[in-house]
Amino acid sequence: MLSIVILAAGQSKRMNSKLPKVLHPLGGLPMLAHVIQATEKLNAHQTILVTSPSLSSFDAYTTVVQDEPKGTGHAVQTAINALDPKAEEVIILCGDTPLIHSNTLQTLKDSKADLTLIGMKLDRADHAYGLVMQDKKGAPCQIVEFKDATTEQRKISFGNAGIYKIKTSLLKELLPKLDNQNVAGEYYLTDLVALAHQQGYKIEMLQGAEEEFQGINNRVELAKAEAVLQDRWRLQMMQAGVTLVQPETIFLSHDTKIGKDSRIGPFVTFGPNVKVAEDVTVLSFCHIENTMIEEGASVGPFAHLRGNTVLESGASIGNFVEVKGSRIGRKAKAKHLSYIGDAEVGDKANIGAGVITCNYDGFIKSRTVIGSNSMIGANTSLVAPVTIGEGAIVGAGSTITKSVPADALAVTRSQQLTKLNWARKFREKNGGN
Ligand code: UD1
Ligand code: MG
Repeated sequence: MLSIVILAAGQSKRMNSKLPKVLHPLGGLPMLAHVIQATEKLNAHQTILVTSPSLSSFDAYTTVVQDEPKGTGHAVQTAINALDPKAEEVIILCGDTPLIHSNTLQTLKDSKADLTLIGMKLDRADHAYGLVMQDKKGAPCQIVEFKDATTEQRKISFGNAGIYKIKTSLLKELLPKLDNQNVAGEYYLTDLVALAHQQGYKIEMLQGAEEEFQGINNRVELAKAEAVLQDRWRLQMMQAGVTLVQPETIFLSHDTKIGKDSRIGPFVTFGPNVKVAEDVTVLSFCHIENTMIEEGASVGPFAHLRGNTVLESGASIGNFVEVKGSRIGRKAKAKHLSYIGDAEVGDKANIGAGVITCNYDGFIKSRTVIGSNSMIGANTSLVAPVTIGEGAIVGAGSTITKSVPADALAVTRSQQLTKLNWARKFREKNGGN
C-alpha cells in the first residue's frame, strides 16, 4: 500500500510574496494542484499535504499543519503520525516541483530499492539544488545541500529533484536521527540518504532532465516553469490538429480546450475555462476567458470575451468588441466596437458598429434580449432591461429604453435640421471664402 506526502509548508521567503509559494499559479492553476494532478494516476491509498498554518484549501486531502518551517525533514516528521499504518511505502514530493510527469512517478512507484531518489543531470553550476554524491558503484550515498557544499562538491553534476520513494519502516527508523547541524539550521530530509547508506540499505537513483524537476523558489523560476508548461501545451494542441500561428505568442490555461482545424492567430491569451469547438477562427490580440465557442464561429482581432459567454455556431465577433455573460446566437454578428453585456442575441441578428448594452445602473445588472434576425443600427444604446423583438430594426444612433415589438422599427433620433446655404453665408460673414 502506497501513501503520498507532499511538502507544501515553508516560508516562501525567496518568493517575496504574501501568497504561500505553492499557491502561485501556473497556467491559472496553483503549482500545488499541478503536483497533486501528477500524483492522481498512482491511485495511492492516501495523500497527505504538509502545509503552513496560512494555507487551508485543498480540503479533499489529509492536511497536516507544520506550525514552524524547520526544514523538509521536519515537515515529514510532522506528517508521520498521519500515515496509514498499512502504508508499506511512501512517495514524498515537494509542492514547488510542478512540472513532474505522472509516468515518471509511475516509474518511481515501480522501483524496488529501499530508497529511490531522482537525480537531474546538470551542466551548470549556477543553481541551488542539493547535490547527489555517489559511491564507487554509482549508488547515491549522500546529498549535500548547495549551501553546505564545497566548491569542489558544487561541480557534481547530479542535482536532487526532491522526489523520493522510501519504505515506511525505513522512514520511521531514520527520521528521528535527523539533526539541524547545517548552514540553514534546518532538519534536511536529504540527510536520510547518508543515514540509509551507512546502514547498508539499497538506494537507487532515477535520472531525468532538469526541465521536468525544476523547483520553483522565486519569481524568475516561476516564469521559467510557466514557459515550459506553455510550450508543452502548445505542442499538445498542435499535435491534436489546432493551428497556432506563432505559437510562442499564444498563452493557454491548464483547462483550455480547442477543437481540430481551429486556427488561433498570434498574441491570443486564453484565461480559465475556455472551450473552443472545431473550425473556429480566433484572430490576433484577443483575450478569452470563461467562454464557450461553437463550431465555425470567428473572433477578433482585438476581441475580449468573458463571464460565461457562449458564441453559437457561425457567430462572428469582430474588432474591439467586448462580450460578457452573453449568448450570441447562430450566425449573429457584432463586428465592430461594441459592448455586449448580460445579453441574449438571437440567431442571425446584426449588431451594428458601436452598439452598447447599458446593463448596469450603478446598483444592479439587467439583461438585454435581442431577437433573431433583428438589426441594431450603429451607435445605439440599449438600456437594460429591454427586449428587441425578432426581425425588428433599430435606427442608428438611438437610445432604446422601451422594448420594441417584433418586426417594428424604433428610432429615437431627434429630427434633422437642414438650412440651405447657411454654411456659405456664415463663411462670408466671417471673412472666409
Ligand atoms: C529542496 C532539497 C534540495 C533539492 C530541491 C529540489 C532539502 C533540504 N533540499 O531544496 O536537495 O535539490 O528541494 O527542488 O530538502 N517545505 C515544507 N516545510 C519546511 C521547508 C520546506 O513543507 O519546513 C516544503 C516547501 O513548501 C517546498 C518543499 O518543501 O515545497 C522544498 O522546500 P524548499 O525550501 O523549496 O527546498 P529547496 O531549497 O528547494
Ligand atoms: Mg524548492
